[in-house]
Amino acid sequence: MCGIIGYVGDRKACEVIVRGLKRLEYRGYDSAGIVTGDNGRLYIKKGAGRVDELREKLGFLQMPGKIGIGHTRWATHGVPDDTNAHPHTDCTGRIALVHNGIIENFSSLREWLVERGHTFRSNTDTEVIAHLIEEELKSGGSFEEAMRRALLRLRGSFALGIIYAGEPDRLYFVRNESPLVLGIGRGENFAASDVPAFLEYTKRAVFLDDGEYAILTKDSWIVKNLYTGEVVEKEVQEIEWDLEMAEKSGYEHFTLKEIYEQPRAVRDAIHGNAEVVRKVAEEIAGYDRIFIVAMGTSYHAGLVAKYLFQRLTRRVPIVEEASEFRYEFGEILNERDLVLAITQSGETADTLAAMRLAKERGAKVLAIVNVVGSMATRVADLTLYTHAGPEIGVAATKTYTTQLTVLTMLAIELARILGTTDGEELRRLEENLKAVPELMEKVLGHDGALRELAEGLLGREDFFYIARGINVPTALEGALKLKEISYVHAEGLSAGELKHGPLALLENGVPVVAIAPGGRTFDKMVANIEEARARGAHVIGLGEEPELRDISDVFIEMPGMDELLTPIVYALPLQLLAYHLSVLRGNDPDRPRNLAKSVTVE
Ligand code: G6P
Repeated sequence: MCGIIGYVGDRKACEVIVRGLKRLEYRGYDSAGIVTGDNGRLYIKKGAGRVDELREKLGFLQMPGKIGIGHTRWATHGVPDDTNAHPHTDCTGRIALVHNGIIENFSSLREWLVERGHTFRSNTDTEVIAHLIEEELKSGGSFEEAMRRALLRLRGSFALGIIYAGEPDRLYFVRNESPLVLGIGRGENFAASDVPAFLEYTKRAVFLDDGEYAILTKDSWIVKNLYTGEVVEKEVQEIEWDLEMAEKSGYEHFTLKEIYEQPRAVRDAIHGNAEVVRKVAEEIAGYDRIFIVAMGTSYHAGLVAKYLFQRLTRRVPIVEEASEFRYEFGEILNERDLVLAITQSGETADTLAAMRLAKERGAKVLAIVNVVGSMATRVADLTLYTHAGPEIGVAATKTYTTQLTVLTMLAIELARILGTTDGEELRRLEENLKAVPELMEKVLGHDGALRELAEGLLGREDFFYIARGINVPTALEGALKLKEISYVHAEGLSAGELKHGPLALLENGVPVVAIAPGGRTFDKMVANIEEARARGAHVIGLGEEPELRDISDVFIEMPGMDELLTPIVYALPLQLLAYHLSVLRGNDPDRPRNLAKSVTVE
């Protein structure tokens, strides 16, 4: 996820762009850059660091011209440094562009372009787009046609801002699965990833849809279809948000915004790993012993992976909290072992220590990380990224479901290499994984019902979350979310454990959240729910079976799906329940007391 802002009008473009970039920093903050156009020449300044630092260091505000584009980066391919910062240019330096999203097929396109003599300067997926347009320009036609032909060859998600020195009065903006909105002014026009970037200049906005591009000049704007080149009629909307609301895209909190971003985040996780996961799986397929280390929500993702790996690859990883692993189990590691570390931030002290120990003992270390270039990626031998974009809320939401997505992809590829699961079944699972974002959209439709549910549970101080099989970690994660942001005591456990102790705590009205999709242990789950009901528990059932509806006090109907994918989708209602309880109790869900986003001390 990155932020884009473009301007054309009578003002000094660099000033408008720097102000816009500041407002977009929540979308990415590891590097920034600007291109402006003046007298048929392009001027570019870019580097790693925050917008404020770079404004002074690079002299952003000294850039000439009344037209330009800015970008604030959240790295997805290539570490955050000066060369990987956007804008990127073609070989001639006459095409400059910025990008938000992920180009799935960038490495094959890059190879193709290198064969044709193109020279690449960065490690980004973005740079291929500039060279691809340059290549298409050679075959003739207008810049617009060349751009369209080039873009139709891309797979993945992208929002792009493009400027061409040959057409110094106009900007191009393209949208496919990453947001872009135009700001319509008088004698000036804007485009941005999000409304706050231009809200101080105009409240009139045009939201682009997937597969559309816009051409902006000072006095005109037009939107066309990327596939046909035909003009699309668009409606100008009046924005009513204030600036603070706009930064959260109209959501009351970042946590809620991030919960709602999950369909997009999972799509990006799939696009971003489509090519690389196979290579990583090949490198690790030879390891028999797999140890998974992580903390907090990332640890819960590791617990889900234990079930995934068992089912698909017939290997059962040992999953440990990194803080325990490093003092106890790390001792048995050797060079024939694989250690898989899961960490959103890539900075958690215990996880890093466990990784370093693994390296010392000669084990191979694979990291699943959200923050590109973070310490974990430097310690690891191999890294897979979750591509969730920056997560501002302290409690992990979208980074959890994207970790699960990547782990599922990895388990599928490993199973393919090892031949442990039927190929047809793996293909079906892969297709079903691609449909998860749609299922998530459906489940987000329960938001109103979950808020009502939270209202009814407001006075409750103890919650139980029960599940079986691959959703036992979902129960743990649901309980953790509630503790973190609502400050309500909650316990997550396997339903089978209920009668070995916790049942003694159940009395009239105690909420029991039963995570019960259909599957191999559904009948057992029903029996456990009945046991809880018999003690007066208030059962909140999450599932798809009519039988569950009958035995639940409140039923949240979930869509049917492959059992192995349920942890990804079932996380959402649990996040929403915790969120609403947090807000209703007067807490700030974005910044829960006593907790930090990155725990860099042991
Ligand atoms: C903190 C955060 C959690 C996170 C955990 C592990 O406790 O509040 O949301 O799950 O650290 O962080 P990591 O960055 O390693 O995933």
